[in-house]
Order: sequence, then structure tokens, then C-alpha cells
Amino acid sequence: MQIRKAVIPAAGLGTRVLPASKAMPKEMLSIVDKPAIQFIVEEAVASGITDILIITSRGKTTVEDHFDRAPELEARLLSAGKQKVYEEIVRISNLANIEYVRQKETKGLGHAVLCAKAFVGNEPFAVLYGDDVVIGGEKPACQELCEVYEKYGLGVAGIKPVELSQIGKYCSLNVQKQEERIFKVTDMIEKPSPENVMSNYSILGRVVLPPEIFSILESTPPGTNGEIQLTDAMRVLAQQQGMMGVEYTGTRYDMGNKLGILQATVQVALKHPEVKDEFREYIKEIAKNL
Ligand code: UTP
Repeated sequence: MQIRKAVIPAAGLGTRVLPASKAMPKEMLSIVDKPAIQFIVEEAVASGITDILIITSRGKTTVEDHFDRAPELEARLLSAGKQKVYEEIVRISNLANIEYVRQKETKGLGHAVLCAKAFVGNEPFAVLYGDDVVIGGEKPACQELCEVYEKYGLGVAGIKPVELSQIGKYCSLNVQKQEERIFKVTDMIEKPSPENVMSNYSILGRVVLPPEIFSILESTPPGTNGEIQLTDAMRVLAQQQGMMGVEYTGTRYDMGNKLGILQATVQVALKHPEVKDEFREYIKEIAKNL
């Protein structure tokens, strides 16, 4: 079944990147000249997604404004002869059919996904975490997951190995290799203590889920940090139906973390047509003194 719908949870508090995220959603933090969430919407669209639900919360109306028309700005750009920028600004508002729902309390990623129940209905859907930007790769990461869903008919997690010493900050998966980059996932645990680590593979930023996840989420009690964890619900799904994992080919940057923002900025700047040459010289110059 072709996956048409995607959910982007973007209602978190972003406490790891304060004060930047105090009045500005971390999902709107810019990588050179484009907000993180635009990279994510573009990835979904490039993967064949036509309908997107963004989960927002109080103080995040700039996300809606970003994907809306901006008549005054557009008129000014046109009258100033800035045709190219004008077209780019209009293109952003036509990327996909984007809807919004507010998560009224920040009760966790699982709770945020549950807010998408009515939008999703009875079909499989992709979840692209609003602060995880994936750049590069053979195909868009979301598409790589959708293809595995279409082949196996099971929920799919986008997975990557992480440093074993860091796995306690992520979730840990029980995986068995199936094909190149494709795994069976039989179990998982959120933020494991050292004795509960299953492997150094974790879910990073992308999943494709069947609609059965909603009834599981409805009976998932609060877990780590008192939040309803999507990992806890996916664990039940993995045990009930089985799940797959795909090691997507792009690089994931965590925009909810200061170092991730810096890494994404450097990577994008080194390829950006307007600034790449000067920026490369600048980096070389400062690297001499490091
Ligand atoms: P994170 O756990 O990275 O986001 O969730 P956070 O809660 O903002 O992080 P801290 O405060 O820095 O630790 C991953 C994604 O899920 C969204 C976040 O906006 C982020 O894009 N999220 C998280 C929600 O939409 N609702 C929630 O209740 C929690």
C-alpha cells in the first residue's frame, strides 16, 4: 500500500537548546537559510507523501506562518524584481497539503502521535520527528522506510548504530539482519540502563507505522520521564506483529541538540551555492589555529 500521509511531531519544549527555543520553536531553527522543519517537509514530499499533519503547541504559530502564503512579502518581492526569491517563497506554501493540530500538554512523543489519530484514519503513515533532519543519502530517508513497509507489510523504524557509551540517551533495539541495511526488530527499550541494552542500534528520527499503533498508544501508560513513549508502544507492536528496521543512507542531524545544530550548519553551508566557496576558505583558515 502506497503511504500518502505523514505526521511531524513538533510540539516539544526543546529544553536542550534553550534559550534559542524559548520563544522560537526549535523546529524553526535555521540551517543556513532554511528552517529545519522545511528540510523535513521536503523530505516527506520527495518520498511521495501528499498529506502532512504537523503537531504543534502553544507558541509555535511561526511553523504555520512559514508554510502559508505571505501576500505582502510576495507583492514586495515582485515589485522589487526579485522573481527568484518570490518563486521560492510561493513554492514553500505549495509543498503539500499541510494540516495542524495542537498537543495541549507536552506528554511525550507517543502522546503527540496519538493526536494524529483522526488525520491518519485506517492507513499506514510515516512519522518524521520534527527535530531530526536527514541530509544526503541515496534516496530520501522516508522513502527508504516506505519501500520496506511496502515490501514486508510491517511497521518500519529508521535505525542507526550509536556509540555504545551514549545508548542510554536513546532507545536500544533487538535486531536481526535480514538483507543489506534491513533488519527484523523484535524488541526495544527506551533510555536503557547498561544492563538492559539490547544492541547499539537505535531508532533515529523516522518510522512508518500501521494504524494499529493508535489502539496500542491509547493503553500505553506513561514511561521514562513520565511521558507516553512512542518506543513503549512500538515495543508492543514489534512483539505482536513484528517490525522492521532500515539503516537509512542519509546522515541524521539532531536539531534538538547544540552540537547537532552546528554540524548541520557546517554541512549545509559547505554545499550552499551562495556561500560555499567563502565558507570553505573560512573553515580552512580557522582550522589552522585549532
Ligand atoms: P524530543 O524528546 O527530542 O523533544 O522529541 P523535546 O521534548 O522538545 O526535547 P528536550 O526538551 O530538548 O529534551 C522528538 C520530537 O517530538 C516532538 C518534539 O517537538 C521533537 O520534534 N515532541 C516531543 C512532541 O511533539 N510532543 C512531546 O510531548 C514531546
